Order: sequence, then C-alpha cells, then structure tokens
Amino acid sequence: MTPDLLEQGARRVEAHAKKSVEGRTESGGRAAGFSRIATPGEVDVTHGRILYLEDVSVSFDGFKAINKLSLDIAPGELRCIIGPNGAGKTTMMDIITGKTRPDSGTVYFGSTIDLLRHKEAEIAQLGIGRKFQKPTVFEQLTVFENLELALKTNKGVKASMVFRLDSAQSDRLAEILHTIHLVDGVRRLAGNLSHGQKQWLEIGMLLMQDPKLLLLDEPVAGMTDEETARTAELFLSLKGKHSLMVVEHDMSFIRSISEIVTVLCDGSVLAQGTLDEVQSDERVIEVYLGR
Ligand SMILES: Nc1ncnc2c1ncn2[C@@H]1O[C@H](COP(=O)(O)OP(=O)(O)OP(=O)(O)O)[C@@H](O)[C@H]1O
Ligand SMILES: [Mg+2]
Repeated sequence: MTPDLLEQGARRVEAHAKKSVEGRTESGGRAAGFSRIATPGEVDVTHGRILYLEDVSVSFDGFKAINKLSLDIAPGELRCIIGPNGAGKTTMMDIITGKTRPDSGTVYFGSTIDLLRHKEAEIAQLGIGRKFQKPTVFEQLTVFENLELALKTNKGVKASMVFRLDSAQSDRLAEILHTIHLVDGVRRLAGNLSHGQKQWLEIGMLLMQDPKLLLLDEPVAGMTDEETARTAELFLSLKGKHSLMVVEHDMSFIRSISEIVTVLCDGSVLAQGTLDEVQSDERVIEVYLGR
C-alpha cells in the first residue's frame, strides 16, 4: 500500500552506488554528489532522517514557546513526544506543518526539502499529514464518502466533480477501512460514529493521501480504554510504512507503542530515551511525571 521508506532509501543508495561505479572517471570517479540524489516529488532519506529540526526558536510576545529545539526522526520511526502543558508540543507541530513560522532555525523534510520555504498546503502535499486533537470528519457524509473526499482535496472544483476512484484507489480505500476497523461501518454517517471511530476515520482520511510523515496530537484523548488499545494496534501497524510523531499525555498508551520517547519542556528537549529511561530521569520527574 505505502512505500516502505527504509527500503526506498536503501534501494536508492544501492542504485546510486552502482551508477557511480559505472561512471567512474580517471580522477577516481569519486561520487561527489553522493549526498544529494534529488528525485522530484520524493523525500530523500539517504541520510537516515525524514524530519530534522535544528536550533528552532519561536517567541509569542516575548515568550519563548520553542527555544533552540533540535530533534530528528528516522524513516519509519514511531516517535513519542511527552511533556507538561505549555511545553511547546503543539507549537512544534505548527512549525513542521507551516502553520507557524519560527524566528530562527532549520526544519528539513528528508535531506533536501527545506520546510521553511513552503506554505502549509504545500507541506501537506509533500507528504506530511496532521491530526488535530478534535476529530474533523464530515458528519453528514458516510464513512466511505469521507474517505473518498480525502482524495479530492486540493484538486479544484471541476476535477472533484468528475472524480472517480481508480482501481488502485478503491483497493487502498478497502485496505484502509480494514486498518481503521470500519469495514462494517462503511455506509454509516460519520456523525453517528463513536468519538474513537471518528478519530480513526480522520486518520484513515490522512492515510488516503499516503503521507510519509504523520503528526498526531493527543490522538487518544477522550477515547475509551478499548478504543485506546485499538489505536495502539493501529499505530504499531502503521510504523515502518509511515513515520509517526505522536504527542500524548496518556502514559499507558505511550508505554504500549513507544520506542524512543522525547520529553519536551520549555520549548526544548529535556530528555530522550526509552520510556523507562525518561521516567527515571530526575529532571523529567520534577517537571512532569512527579506532579
Ligand atoms: N499563537 C500563539 N500565540 C501566543 N502564544 C502561543 C501561541 N501558540 C502557543 N502559544 C504559547 O506557547 C506555549 C506552548 O504551547 P503549546 O500549545 O505548544 O504547548 P503544548 O506542549 O502543546 O501543551 P499541551 O500539553 O497543553 O497541549 C504556551 O504557553 C502557549 O500559550
Ligand atoms: Mg498541545
């Protein structure tokens, strides 16, 4: 369904290495361009990073919401972000998605795409999908129509009117329905779904656009325990095919999905490691977990 970014990167390295051997010159044919294999429309992850933030800062009325924040994410990784209220987690997502412009710093998608040079809509088209906390599905439409609509966005009115799913898109829609546990609810009005199901539908709508990176802000807030457990399964199934950045306060949920956990505080990284590591860090206990 989705390109495996890790594999994709490895394949490109291999193809390029082969090409540079073939194209060897008398000067030794050193692969001077090895670090840049720019394929339009593709994210270059040959450096092993799909997202890269360095020294990013933003102030609101003199208050530093993000303060020299540096962080990176590997292709296919599921990164969890935790931290106290006001730490800057949502603001960081605003910066990655182009909603907020930082005052300084570097934000790259892969090694070649400078996100600070792109507008919000362009960033979505480049393959960064974002899920806000509140579900924003179209309540008067069915589950199927919502998913179908996700493919039409950014296509213009005329193109949308004649839009028909091709067979690959139909297959993808069927697969996504399965992934988000809504096969039986495909004809139901989105407005009649439970809170958790609406959240899954919205994630499904993002998946229809096949994002390379998904940013999810407090995805299990308000969910039942059962819905939360299913969401954990869902995220684990997406890992590898997509890169995910998940912000949550629910520690048992974080425990069920996490590998590396980054703790944000006062707009920068306070600690990073496994959940056990950060949970036993005195500074983290003081500012967040020990409250
Ligand atoms: N557009 C804005 N204008 C002014 N202040 C802002 C703006 N956006 C964020 N802030 C401030 O920046 C700080 C970081 O907020 P942010 O929403 O990123 O925190 P958070 O880590 O997501 O917190 P929570 O866990 O409560 O969601 C807060 O003090 C917030 O009030
Ligand atoms: Mg927030």
